[in-house]
Amino acid sequence: MNKRRRVYEGKAKVLYEGPEPGTLIQHFKDDATAFNNKKHALIEGKGVLNNRISEYIFLKLGEIGVPTHFVRRLNMREQLIREVEIIPLEVVVRNVAAGSLATRLGIEEGKQLPRSLIEFYYKNDELGDPMVAEEHITAFAWATPPEIDEMMQLALRINDFLVGLFLGIGIRLIDFKIEFGRQWENEQMRIVLADEISPDCCRLWDAVTSDKLDKDRFRRDMGGVLEAYQEVARRLGVLTENPRPRGSGPVLVSSKPT
Ligand code: TMP
Ligand code: ASP
Repeated sequence: MNKRRRVYEGKAKVLYEGPEPGTLIQHFKDDATAFNNKKHALIEGKGVLNNRISEYIFLKLGEIGVPTHFVRRLNMREQLIREVEIIPLEVVVRNVAAGSLATRLGIEEGKQLPRSLIEFYYKNDELGDPMVAEEHITAFAWATPPEIDEMMQLALRINDFLVGLFLGIGIRLIDFKIEFGRQWENEQMRIVLADEISPDCCRLWDAVTSDKLDKDRFRRDMGGVLEAYQEVARRLGVLTENPRPRGSGPVLVSSKPT
Protein backbone atom coordinates (compact mmCIF):
# COMPACT_ATOMS: atom_id res chain seq x y z
CA MET A 1 0.00 0.00 0.00
CA ASN A 2 1.31 3.45 -0.82
CA LYS A 3 2.32 5.65 2.11
CA ARG A 4 -0.24 8.31 2.80
CA ARG A 5 0.40 11.40 4.82
CA ARG A 6 -1.18 11.21 8.24
CA VAL A 7 -2.79 14.55 8.99
CA TYR A 8 -4.18 13.84 12.45
CA GLU A 9 -4.57 10.92 14.82
CA GLY A 10 -7.31 10.93 17.44
CA LYS A 11 -8.37 8.29 19.95
CA ALA A 12 -10.69 6.37 17.63
CA LYS A 13 -9.85 7.69 14.16
CA VAL A 14 -6.97 8.69 11.91
CA LEU A 15 -7.19 11.33 9.20
CA TYR A 16 -5.04 10.91 6.09
CA GLU A 17 -4.47 13.26 3.20
CA GLY A 18 -7.17 12.70 0.57
CA PRO A 19 -6.80 12.10 -3.17
CA GLU A 20 -7.67 15.71 -4.05
CA PRO A 21 -6.99 19.01 -2.32
CA GLY A 22 -9.69 19.79 0.20
CA THR A 23 -10.41 16.12 0.93
CA LEU A 24 -9.30 13.77 3.69
CA ILE A 25 -9.64 10.07 4.38
CA GLN A 26 -11.22 9.28 7.74
CA HIS A 27 -10.04 5.89 9.05
CA PHE A 28 -11.95 4.21 11.89
CA LYS A 29 -9.74 2.34 14.39
CA ASP A 30 -10.81 -0.39 16.80
CA ASP A 31 -9.54 1.57 19.81
CA ALA A 32 -12.02 2.38 22.53
CA THR A 33 -11.18 4.94 25.19
CA ALA A 34 -13.08 6.39 28.08
CA PHE A 35 -12.55 8.92 30.84
CA ASN A 36 -10.16 10.93 28.70
CA ASN A 37 -7.99 8.00 27.69
CA LYS A 38 -7.54 6.60 31.21
CA LYS A 39 -9.27 3.46 30.02
CA HIS A 40 -8.27 1.94 26.72
CA ALA A 41 -8.98 -1.29 24.85
CA LEU A 42 -9.10 -2.70 21.37
CA ILE A 43 -12.51 -3.94 20.30
CA GLU A 44 -11.87 -5.88 17.14
CA GLY A 45 -14.36 -4.92 14.45
CA LYS A 46 -15.65 -1.75 16.14
CA GLY A 47 -14.07 0.52 13.53
CA VAL A 48 -15.73 -1.38 10.69
CA LEU A 49 -19.14 -1.08 12.34
CA ASN A 50 -18.74 2.61 13.18
CA ASN A 51 -17.65 3.37 9.61
CA ARG A 52 -20.85 1.75 8.31
CA ILE A 53 -23.19 3.19 10.92
CA SER A 54 -21.80 6.70 10.57
CA GLU A 55 -21.95 6.50 6.76
CA TYR A 56 -25.61 5.50 6.94
CA ILE A 57 -26.54 8.29 9.36
CA PHE A 58 -24.58 11.00 7.51
CA LEU A 59 -26.18 9.98 4.20
CA LYS A 60 -29.66 10.09 5.73
CA LEU A 61 -28.96 13.50 7.28
CA GLY A 62 -27.68 14.70 3.90
CA GLU A 63 -30.96 13.58 2.35
CA ILE A 64 -32.93 15.87 4.68
CA GLY A 65 -30.63 18.80 3.88
CA VAL A 66 -28.18 18.76 6.78
CA PRO A 67 -24.79 19.74 5.32
CA THR A 68 -22.08 17.21 6.27
CA HIS A 69 -18.41 16.56 5.52
CA PHE A 70 -19.18 13.06 4.20
CA VAL A 71 -18.42 12.30 0.54
CA ARG A 72 -18.44 8.49 0.23
CA ARG A 73 -17.29 5.33 1.92
CA LEU A 74 -14.06 3.98 0.44
CA ASN A 75 -13.69 0.61 2.12
CA MET A 76 -14.45 -1.29 5.35
CA ARG A 77 -12.70 1.22 7.58
CA GLU A 78 -12.41 4.41 5.59
CA GLN A 79 -14.51 7.19 4.18
CA LEU A 80 -13.70 10.15 1.98
CA ILE A 81 -14.60 13.45 3.65
CA ARG A 82 -14.26 17.13 2.83
CA GLU A 83 -11.62 18.89 4.83
CA VAL A 84 -13.15 21.35 7.28
CA GLU A 85 -11.85 23.56 10.06
CA ILE A 86 -13.12 21.83 13.17
CA ILE A 87 -14.84 24.15 15.65
CA PRO A 88 -13.27 23.16 19.01
CA LEU A 89 -16.57 22.29 20.66
CA GLU A 90 -18.40 19.08 21.45
CA VAL A 91 -22.11 19.69 21.08
CA VAL A 92 -24.16 17.35 23.25
CA VAL A 93 -27.91 16.95 22.79
CA ARG A 94 -29.87 15.21 25.55
CA ASN A 95 -33.41 13.86 25.54
CA VAL A 96 -33.23 11.72 28.66
CA ALA A 97 -31.12 12.20 31.79
CA ALA A 98 -28.01 9.99 31.79
CA GLY A 99 -24.25 10.09 32.27
CA SER A 100 -22.69 13.33 33.41
CA LEU A 101 -26.02 15.22 33.47
CA ALA A 102 -27.55 12.67 35.82
CA THR A 103 -24.47 12.81 38.06
CA ARG A 104 -24.02 16.59 37.99
CA LEU A 105 -27.63 17.50 38.73
CA GLY A 106 -28.66 14.44 40.72
CA ILE A 107 -31.35 13.39 38.25
CA GLU A 108 -32.24 9.73 38.01
CA GLU A 109 -30.86 8.05 34.88
CA GLY A 110 -33.64 7.36 32.42
CA LYS A 111 -35.82 10.33 33.37
CA GLN A 112 -37.29 12.01 30.30
CA LEU A 113 -36.18 15.65 30.16
CA PRO A 114 -38.87 18.37 29.86
CA ARG A 115 -37.28 19.36 26.55
CA SER A 116 -34.16 18.52 24.57
CA LEU A 117 -31.09 20.17 26.07
CA ILE A 118 -28.00 21.34 24.21
CA GLU A 119 -24.67 21.62 26.00
CA PHE A 120 -21.25 22.74 24.78
CA TYR A 121 -17.93 21.29 25.86
CA TYR A 122 -14.55 22.78 24.97
CA LYS A 123 -12.59 20.16 22.99
CA ASN A 124 -9.36 19.95 24.93
CA ASP A 125 -8.05 16.61 26.18
CA GLU A 126 -5.58 18.17 28.62
CA LEU A 127 -8.45 19.92 30.36
CA GLY A 128 -10.77 16.90 30.08
CA ASP A 129 -13.26 18.64 27.74
CA PRO A 130 -14.83 21.04 30.27
CA MET A 131 -18.42 22.19 29.83
CA VAL A 132 -18.62 25.81 28.70
CA ALA A 133 -21.33 28.44 28.29
CA GLU A 134 -21.99 30.56 25.20
CA GLU A 135 -20.24 33.39 27.07
CA HIS A 136 -16.96 31.45 27.05
CA ILE A 137 -17.39 30.42 23.41
CA THR A 138 -17.77 33.98 22.19
CA ALA A 139 -15.27 35.53 24.65
CA PHE A 140 -12.53 33.16 23.54
CA ALA A 141 -13.64 33.33 19.87
CA TRP A 142 -14.15 29.58 19.45
CA ALA A 143 -17.32 30.44 17.52
CA THR A 144 -19.35 33.57 16.76
CA PRO A 145 -22.95 34.11 17.95
CA PRO A 146 -24.38 33.34 14.47
CA GLU A 147 -22.28 30.16 14.33
CA ILE A 148 -23.60 29.11 17.75
CA ASP A 149 -27.17 29.71 16.53
CA GLU A 150 -26.50 27.66 13.39
CA MET A 151 -24.98 24.78 15.39
CA MET A 152 -27.93 24.76 17.80
CA GLN A 153 -30.48 24.74 14.98
CA LEU A 154 -28.64 21.95 13.18
CA ALA A 155 -28.23 19.99 16.42
CA LEU A 156 -31.99 20.11 17.08
CA ARG A 157 -32.82 19.09 13.50
CA ILE A 158 -30.36 16.23 13.73
CA ASN A 159 -31.86 15.22 17.07
CA ASP A 160 -35.46 15.27 15.77
CA PHE A 161 -34.48 13.16 12.79
CA LEU A 162 -32.37 10.68 14.73
CA VAL A 163 -34.95 10.21 17.50
CA GLY A 164 -37.42 9.09 14.82
CA LEU A 165 -34.90 7.02 12.90
CA PHE A 166 -33.88 5.09 16.02
CA LEU A 167 -37.40 4.75 17.42
CA GLY A 168 -38.35 3.10 14.12
CA ILE A 169 -35.88 0.32 14.93
CA GLY A 170 -36.84 0.00 18.59
CA ILE A 171 -34.10 2.19 20.05
CA ARG A 172 -34.37 5.24 22.33
CA LEU A 173 -31.88 7.97 21.55
CA ILE A 174 -30.94 9.14 25.05
CA ASP A 175 -28.21 11.62 24.10
CA PHE A 176 -25.36 12.12 21.66
CA LYS A 177 -22.32 14.24 20.90
CA ILE A 178 -21.59 15.87 17.54
CA GLU A 179 -18.94 18.15 16.12
CA PHE A 180 -19.12 20.82 13.47
CA GLY A 181 -16.63 22.34 11.06
CA ARG A 182 -16.31 25.37 8.83
CA GLN A 183 -16.18 24.69 5.12
CA TRP A 184 -15.24 27.40 2.67
CA GLU A 185 -16.44 27.49 -0.92
CA ASN A 186 -15.05 30.49 -2.78
CA GLU A 187 -15.50 33.24 -0.20
CA GLN A 188 -18.56 31.61 1.38
CA MET A 189 -18.33 29.77 4.70
CA ARG A 190 -20.85 27.25 5.90
CA ILE A 191 -21.13 25.17 9.05
CA VAL A 192 -21.21 21.43 8.33
CA LEU A 193 -21.62 18.35 10.49
CA ALA A 194 -18.21 16.63 10.84
CA ASP A 195 -16.59 13.76 12.77
CA GLU A 196 -18.92 10.75 13.17
CA ILE A 197 -22.22 9.57 14.62
CA SER A 198 -21.95 6.05 15.99
CA PRO A 199 -22.55 4.11 19.22
CA ASP A 200 -19.21 5.58 20.38
CA CYS A 201 -20.78 8.99 20.79
CA CYS A 202 -24.48 8.23 21.38
CA ARG A 203 -26.45 6.64 24.18
CA LEU A 204 -28.82 4.12 22.61
CA TRP A 205 -31.19 2.06 24.75
CA ASP A 206 -33.39 -0.74 23.55
CA ALA A 207 -36.92 0.71 23.60
CA VAL A 208 -38.40 -2.36 25.28
CA THR A 209 -35.71 -3.72 27.59
CA SER A 210 -33.62 -0.53 28.11
CA ASP A 211 -30.52 -2.60 27.32
CA LYS A 212 -27.58 -0.35 26.52
CA LEU A 213 -26.45 -0.58 22.90
CA ASP A 214 -23.55 1.89 23.06
CA LYS A 215 -20.16 2.74 24.52
CA ASP A 216 -21.49 2.80 28.08
CA ARG A 217 -21.06 -0.99 27.90
CA PHE A 218 -17.32 -0.31 27.64
CA ARG A 219 -17.23 2.63 30.08
CA ARG A 220 -19.11 0.60 32.70
CA ASP A 221 -17.42 -2.79 32.07
CA MET A 222 -20.69 -4.43 31.05
CA GLY A 223 -19.21 -6.63 28.30
CA GLY A 224 -20.86 -7.35 24.96
CA VAL A 225 -19.65 -4.10 23.40
CA LEU A 226 -19.16 -5.43 19.88
CA GLU A 227 -22.42 -7.38 20.01
CA ALA A 228 -24.28 -4.19 20.96
CA TYR A 229 -22.75 -2.22 18.07
CA GLN A 230 -23.56 -5.14 15.74
CA GLU A 231 -27.16 -5.06 16.92
CA VAL A 232 -27.43 -1.34 16.11
CA ALA A 233 -25.90 -1.96 12.67
CA ARG A 234 -28.19 -4.92 12.07
CA ARG A 235 -31.33 -2.97 12.98
CA LEU A 236 -30.25 -0.07 10.77
CA GLY A 237 -29.88 -2.61 7.97
CA VAL A 238 -26.22 -1.88 7.31
CA LEU A 239 -24.89 -5.25 8.44
CA THR A 240 -25.49 -6.93 5.13
CA GLU A 241 -22.46 -9.16 4.95
CA ASN A 242 -22.15 -11.84 7.58
CA PRO A 243 -19.14 -10.71 9.61
CA ARG A 244 -16.90 -13.76 9.71
CA PRO A 245 -15.82 -14.79 13.20
CA ARG A 246 -12.18 -14.03 13.87
CA GLY A 247 -9.77 -16.77 12.86
CA SER A 248 -12.16 -18.78 10.75
CA GLY A 249 -11.53 -19.32 7.09
CA PRO A 250 -13.91 -18.81 4.18
CA VAL A 251 -17.27 -20.44 4.74
CA LEU A 252 -19.19 -22.10 1.94
CA VAL A 253 -22.70 -20.77 2.38
CA SER A 254 -24.45 -22.59 -0.41
CA SER A 255 -23.25 -24.44 -3.46
CA LYS A 256 -26.68 -24.75 -4.99
CA PRO A 257 -27.94 -22.19 -7.47
CA THR A 258 -30.73 -20.14 -5.94
P1 TMP B 1 -21.85 12.54 29.15
O1 TMP B 1 -23.15 12.19 29.80
O2 TMP B 1 -20.71 11.70 29.61
O3 TMP B 1 -21.55 14.02 29.24
O4 TMP B 1 -22.00 12.21 27.59
C1 TMP B 1 -23.03 12.78 26.80
C2 TMP B 1 -22.99 12.16 25.41
O5 TMP B 1 -21.81 12.52 24.72
C3 TMP B 1 -23.00 10.64 25.41
O6 TMP B 1 -23.83 10.20 24.34
C4 TMP B 1 -21.58 10.23 25.15
C5 TMP B 1 -21.04 11.39 24.34
N1 TMP B 1 -19.65 11.67 24.64
C6 TMP B 1 -18.71 11.58 23.63
O7 TMP B 1 -19.02 11.23 22.50
N2 TMP B 1 -17.41 11.88 23.93
C7 TMP B 1 -17.00 12.27 25.16
O8 TMP B 1 -15.82 12.54 25.36
C8 TMP B 1 -17.99 12.35 26.19
C9 TMP B 1 -17.59 12.77 27.58
C10 TMP B 1 -19.29 12.05 25.88
N1 ASP C 1 -13.63 10.98 24.80
C1 ASP C 1 -13.62 10.15 25.98
C2 ASP C 1 -12.21 9.56 26.11
O1 ASP C 1 -11.52 9.09 25.69
C3 ASP C 1 -14.44 8.95 25.84
C4 ASP C 1 -15.85 8.95 26.25
O2 ASP C 1 -16.18 8.86 27.44
O3 ASP C 1 -16.62 8.89 25.32
O4 ASP C 1 -11.58 9.21 26.68
